[in-house]
Amino acid sequence: MPVSDATDLSPPPVGPGQGALTDVWHFAAMARDLRPGKLQRFEILGEPILIGRGRQGAVYAVRDICPHRSAPLSAGKLTTEANGRESVECPYHGWRFGLDGACTAIPSLVADQAMDVSKIRVRRYPVRESQGLVFIWFSSDPRFDGEPETAPPVLPGVAMGKPKRVGQMILDTPFARAALDLKDTPRVPDSRPYAILGRRPQMEVAFGAPGLRWAHVTVGKRQVLSLTCLTPITAHQTRQTEVLWSDHPAFWLLKA
Ligand code: FES
Repeated sequence: MPVSDATDLSPPPVGPGQGALTDVWHFAAMARDLRPGKLQRFEILGEPILIGRGRQGAVYAVRDICPHRSAPLSAGKLTTEANGRESVECPYHGWRFGLDGACTAIPSLVADQAMDVSKIRVRRYPVRESQGLVFIWFSSDPRFDGEPETAPPVLPGVAMGKPKRVGQMILDTPFARAALDLKDTPRVPDSRPYAILGRRPQMEVAFGAPGLRWAHVTVGKRQVLSLTCLTPITAHQTRQTEVLWSDHPAFWLLKA
């Protein structure tokens, strides 16, 4: 029963200037996109990561590589153990892993095979849901199994309901370069939505590390919070996501 990856917790290669990308919160997903019981595969900093939501509502993230024979766990399913806890079942040989990354069952074991399966682990990543967004903590220590001391960034002025994703693209640009470009682009990337409000907007722009920029726009009594999130996918690619909050009903008609 080979365990190809159980002890291989080495981090992916880190290129020049990438060190600052670890030990920080990165935007991972919109909270509303993570449906209970659904397993989704993401790539962040070159790592395949399964991010999902348990049926009780909690969000979790584990490395999307089974420690047995490297099958993607995201191709498996969420199951409920006899003790009521949920686990991810690998689609290949059915090993199950709790949402904390510890193995909970190996179906091929027979009764007289004494083995503490909980010693087999898949890497777990801290995740937090905040203001309708899901952030993931990417520790520089691949054995880190605690919770970060800092919380994800809190965006001021989010007092108008749920966020809406209005755009997403993959940039063939390293994260550090994309973050510099973000500072140099016009203050509001696409000003057309603000024409809905019909008057000249007042804007306040702020930056959050790493790769977050938000513009708080007020036009009369209406408000818009426009957020741009950068997420490092690989050493050469960056995901850019545009998110809006607004108390103006017309914004909910905007298409991505
Ligand atoms: S690859 Fe065998 S259980 Fe996952």
